[in-house]
Amino acid sequence: MSKKRLSIVDIANNLNISKTTVSFILNGRAKEKRISTEMVDKVLKYVKEVGYKPNSLAKSLRTGKSNTIGLIVEDISNPFFGSIARLIEDRAYKNGYKIIYCSTYNDMQKTRDMINMFRDRHVDGYIIAPPQGVEEDIASLINESMPVVLFDRYLPTIDTDYVVVNNQFSAYNATQYLVGQGYKNIALITFANDQTQMVDRIRGYQMALKEHGLKQLIKELPFAEDLTESITAFLKSRKGIDAVLFGTNRDATYGIKIMHNLGIRIPEDIAVISFDDSDAFELHSPPITTVAQPVEDMAEHIITILLDKLNNNGVGTKNQSIVLHTDLVVRGSSQPVKK
Ligand code: RIB
Repeated sequence: MSKKRLSIVDIANNLNISKTTVSFILNGRAKEKRISTEMVDKVLKYVKEVGYKPNSLAKSLRTGKSNTIGLIVEDISNPFFGSIARLIEDRAYKNGYKIIYCSTYNDMQKTRDMINMFRDRHVDGYIIAPPQGVEEDIASLINESMPVVLFDRYLPTIDTDYVVVNNQFSAYNATQYLVGQGYKNIALITFANDQTQMVDRIRGYQMALKEHGLKQLIKELPFAEDLTESITAFLKSRKGIDAVLFGTNRDATYGIKIMHNLGIRIPEDIAVISFDDSDAFELHSPPITTVAQPVEDMAEHIITILLDKLNNNGVGTKNQSIVLHTDLVVRGSSQPVKK
């Protein structure tokens, strides 16, 4: 039989003092309520002796705050989302909040289920990289005055705070760089759907090629478990490709592995640039040229906006649309074409 969890009422009865006094002391409000040091010491000594553990759910029901934040990302195992989650968690913890995170895998129903789970847990705010189709769910959080910050992509029909990068210019700039090095048959291999960041990356690639009258070669990928078959078929069928821009780190990881398996040399046979930097791309031989997203800066903006809303109870703070710049990190996977 598990030992009954001690409540604040039990502590008050056992020490023959009021429940209110115990509550103020355990919630750090003794000084504000002018409770004597002796009384504070008496209570804290007792709770330590009996191993009292505050009932966080009861506290959140009573105070309406759980000091937790729900973080919903596409895939927490992806280095991009994992690094942002870690940075957010560090900053949130320093400000008295714990993070509960989960992955959507771009699945609308799973995202809905996660939002409902966080509602049941009484999280105080949400940080979400939303798939399509959850506009209503996010609108209802906002209608409930729940602080919500979107990142990596936004929902054009919903007025929220969001933090993204300049995806269109970043893809345009990377493609321009390849054209400038002399490549003429540049393919874009990318996860593609209506998420704003992916639409903008494709648009940037198209704009650059159009400026130079070059043919577009786009392989749009699903968010599938395994991309090997579709990327292999595309690379095998397009003999004339001399450079590839990968739209995400996930596409590039699959693509570079497949190039090795097909005996395609980088950059001698095909030059490569990947959206998203990572240690793996830096350590690759040759190191991969990347469009590096400012993950530290993104995380800082995300958590700062959310904490401001939490501290002001979400009142009065106008929604912010933060668009950050990326860096083209030039390495050995794209070299000037020998004339
Ligand atoms: O899989 C991670 C990639 O998809 C990153 O480019 C990020 O921007 C997300 O959209």
